[in-house]
Parts: sequence; C-alpha cells; structure tokens
Amino acid sequence: MASHHSFFFSFFFSILTLTHSSTEYLKLPLLPTTSLSNTSHILAADLRRLSSRRTSPQSPLTSGAATGSGQYFADLRIGSPPQRLLLVVDTGSDLVWVKCSACRNCSTHRSGSAFLPRHSITFSTHHCYDSQCRLVPHPTATHCNNRTKLHTPCRYQYSYADGSTTTGLFSKETTTFNTSSNKQVKIKNFAFGCGFKTSGPSVTGSSFNGAQGVMGLGRGPISFTSQLGRKFGNTFSYCLLDYTLSPPPKSYLTIGASSNDVDSRKLFSYTPFVTNPLSPTFYYITIESVSVDGVRLPINPSVWGIDVNGNGGTIVDTGTTLSFFAEPAYRQILAAVRRRVKLLVAKDAAALGFDLCVNVSGAARPKLPKLSFVLAGKSALSPPTGNYFIEPVEGLKCLAVQPVRPGSGFSVIGNLMQQGYLFEFDLDRSRMGFSRHGCAVR
Ligand SMILES: *[C@@H]1O[C@H](CO)[C@@H](O)[C@H](O)[C@H]1NC(C)=O
Ligand SMILES: *[C@@H]1O[C@H](CO)[C@@H](O)[C@H](O)[C@H]1NC(C)=O
Ligand SMILES: *[C@@H]1O[C@H](CO)[C@@H](O)[C@H](O)[C@H]1NC(C)=O
Ligand SMILES: *[C@@H]1O[C@H](CO)[C@@H](O)[C@H](O)[C@H]1NC(C)=O
Ligand SMILES: *[C@@H]1O[C@H](CO)[C@@H](O)[C@H](O)[C@H]1NC(C)=O
Repeated sequence: MASHHSFFFSFFFSILTLTHSSTEYLKLPLLPTTSLSNTSHILAADLRRLSSRRTSPQSPLTSGAATGSGQYFADLRIGSPPQRLLLVVDTGSDLVWVKCSACRNCSTHRSGSAFLPRHSITFSTHHCYDSQCRLVPHPTATHCNNRTKLHTPCRYQYSYADGSTTTGLFSKETTTFNTSSNKQVKIKNFAFGCGFKTSGPSVTGSSFNGAQGVMGLGRGPISFTSQLGRKFGNTFSYCLLDYTLSPPPKSYLTIGASSNDVDSRKLFSYTPFVTNPLSPTFYYITIESVSVDGVRLPINPSVWGIDVNGNGGTIVDTGTTLSFFAEPAYRQILAAVRRRVKLLVAKDAAALGFDLCVNVSGAARPKLPKLSFVLAGKSALSPPTGNYFIEPVEGLKCLAVQPVRPGSGFSVIGNLMQQGYLFEFDLDRSRMGFSRHGCAVR
C-alpha cells in the first residue's frame, strides 16, 4: 500500500539522519531472570504475539507447578533524562512497551518500577490520526473513528498468545544506548507503548518477574530491531546462556553487528526464514526432519509448515520458555523418546504438567535420548539434552516440550531450546545463523 510506504519514510527519517556508521553496533547486556537461579521452579512464560487470524494453543502449564519464569531481560534507557527499565526480550512479538505511571508527583515511586512520562521532557504520544497509529491494534473498533474529537491520543491494545494483554498509549521518546565502541547515541522518536494496564499470566506476577515491559524483536516495522536496524543494520544476534549457572554468565543482544566474514561463515550454520504474509511478526523456519538418538522419525514435513491459510509453521521465539511441537509430530517424538529412555519413567509427570518424566536419582550421569533437527539449508540443530529436559523437582527430568493440537497454532522453538547457541538473525539476507561455539566469541 502506497500510504504505508510514505509513512515508513517519514517515521524513520529522524533515525536515518543520525550519522550512519557501518562499523558501530549496539550491544545490550542480556540478563536471565534472577528467580531462574532457583531451579525448583518450572518455567512457563509465553509472549508469542496473538495472531487474530487463528486460535492459539492453550497456555501450556496451567497446572500447579507452573510458577516462576524463564525469560531474558535487557535494559532500555528511555526519556530525557533517561529512565532505566528492564524489559523481556521477545522475538515472538513486535511492540516495545513499558509500564507507565501517570503520577504527577512520583516521589513515592521506586526508581525503575515504571516509566514516568511527566519526568521526561521528550515524551509525546502519537495522535490517533497519525499514520503510525495504524501499526498497532486498538482496544475498540471505533477508536479513531471520531474526527470531531481533536486530541485523541493513539490507544493500543496488544495481546499475546496466552491471553495476556497490555493497553495504553502508543508514544514516542528519546532512547539512549551504548555502542560497541562505548559511544553514547540517542535515538529520537523511538515508537513504543506506554502501558497503563496489563493483564494475564505472562505480563504480570511471577512470570514477569520484575520486568517493566517487553522488548519486541519481531519482523514488523514497530519492533525494536526494525526501528534500530534502520540505523545500525538489519541484523541482530544473541546468546541465551544457561540460567542455572551461578554466577550467571554475561551475554549480549547486539544490533547491527553483521558477521558476514569468512570466519563467521565457518562458525555458523544457516537456515532461511520463511515469510507468512498473514503473520508478519514471526521468524518462521523450516524443520525438514527430526531424529531421536540418530534415528530419523517418519514425520511428514508438512506438519511443521505453514498451510495454505497461513496457519501452522514453526517459529523461533525468545519470549516463550518451552518448545511446542505440532501434532502428530509431538506424539511421534514423545513415543520415540519414551522408547529410548533407559531410566525409570516416573508416574507423576502429569501432575507436574508434562507427558514424560524420568527418575534420575539413581544415575550418576543419566543418559537421556538426543533430539536433532534438520533444518532447511541442510543445517542441523542438535541441542544438548539440558535444552529440552528440565528438572522441576529434584531427581526427575521431564521432557520440556508441549503439544500443539492440529489447526490450533504453530510450533515454537522456545528459549530453553536455544540456550548455549549464538543466534544471528540476518534480515537483509532473510536467514538465521546459529552456532554452538559462538557465545564465547560474542
Ligand atoms: C526456591 O523455590 C522454592 C519453592 O518454591 C522456595 O521454597 C525457595 O524459597 C526458593 N528459593 C529461593 C532462594 O528463592
Ligand atoms: C511530592 O511529594 C513529596 C512527598 O510526598 C512532597 O514532599 C512534595 O512537596 C511533593 N511535591 C509536589 C510538587 O507536590
Ligand atoms: C465524537 O466526539 C465528540 C466530542 O468529544 C462527542 O460529542 C461525540 O459524541 C462523539 N461521537 C461519537 C460517535 O462517539
Ligand atoms: C554505557 O556505558 C557506561 C560505562 O560502561 C555506563 O556507565 C552507562 O550506564 C551505559 N549506558 C547505557 C545507556 O547503557
Ligand atoms: C526415584 O526412585 C527412587 C527409588 O528408585 C525413589 O526412592 C525416589 O523417590 C524416586 N524419585 C522421584 C522424584 O520419584
């Protein structure tokens, strides 16, 4: 649509006018949630963007054990002077939003507990009739239909797959970042949601675990990476490290660091992204086959793919903890893992919210079946067993994968499955690189 094109141009103009440098990139420290050092908690966060076109799978772990969280955080410095807020890093959604407080005298607010617009001289909201406002979903269909109202701000309501929502004003602010060479840069007119109301398990309570918002890294134009990629380059990368390690290891979300040199190409395996016009937020990849202990399972590859109506598919999502596999692939993988397991199968798996748990209390080095995924581009993702077996209670290791009923959603490679890999999302080449040996490098 022509109107959209002209809009993108003006929207990002202010970003583009900053001096462009091809060598500089942004480097944001990534922090696992502090509660994750407590492994007695199961992890069940789910921030996939709700797609209005399809029904989504049920929240996976509504059983009693589903407390705690498995999210990764990054700092955002927003406003003038900058206010520092902790956001969940989420490749499964686009909107960047922070909890906002409308307080005038905010002296009772704990620093960092919410963004205080009145304490910033650069805050403004988008107007309802701004073209930008068309990029966010609105709370009611009639929102913005009343032309006699002059100063209607742009209200948004953004929903996630588990029913969590954030509602507020779509706004703009100046954000402050450190670059790789330790220079401070300010990005003006950064578009974000100033959230006045949140509800649902993934954005409140223990799952959110002290975060003040979500940093959407999706493919849509309003995402953090899309907005900043226009200045620093359309590539981002991250390492999600094992949060059970103490002290938690350092890792980064980088934006713009392109690694297309020979050494990087040796380091990475690549798989192309698949685009789905009906769901432009998600990073879809193609799973061609799955093996358990080296034995390839007879799964029809179409189980993983996007169907003619734009449903299904397999996405890479840092905002969802566990992985979700579409039926019947899930049953086949579960059955194969069950067959290969040499340890005692525990009876109380269901009570913990899982289909398969094994008792490892007697085994010094329990041998668990190994999953391997062949992706399009002939790349193989063979994560360590710790990426898909978790220990919700001591002595029990459970297969941390959940089923997706046919026609009710899509498959998800969650953040647990991604641990220990360097992932690079190269949007110009529309591909994802991953490396088991990259986290030490970047
Ligand atoms: C870890 O979780 C358990 C179970 O919920 C709780 O009793 C314990 O106090 C927690 N430990 C820490 C250090 O937070
Ligand atoms: C803000 O609140 C503090 C403490 O409650 C009070 O001392 C101060 O006078 C208030 N300032 C304004 C401008 O109302
Ligand atoms: C539009 O806004 C005007 C001014 O606030 C108000 O009087 C009118 O009732 C509104 N119309 C509708 C259809 O909401
Ligand atoms: C940038 O780095 C300096 C020094 O390491 C640090 O004090 C400052 O808080 C950082 N600023 C941002 C926006 O991350
Ligand atoms: C594991 O098995 C042992 C005996 O083999 C039993 O004592 C223990 O309670 C079991 N652990 C769990 C968590 O079921």
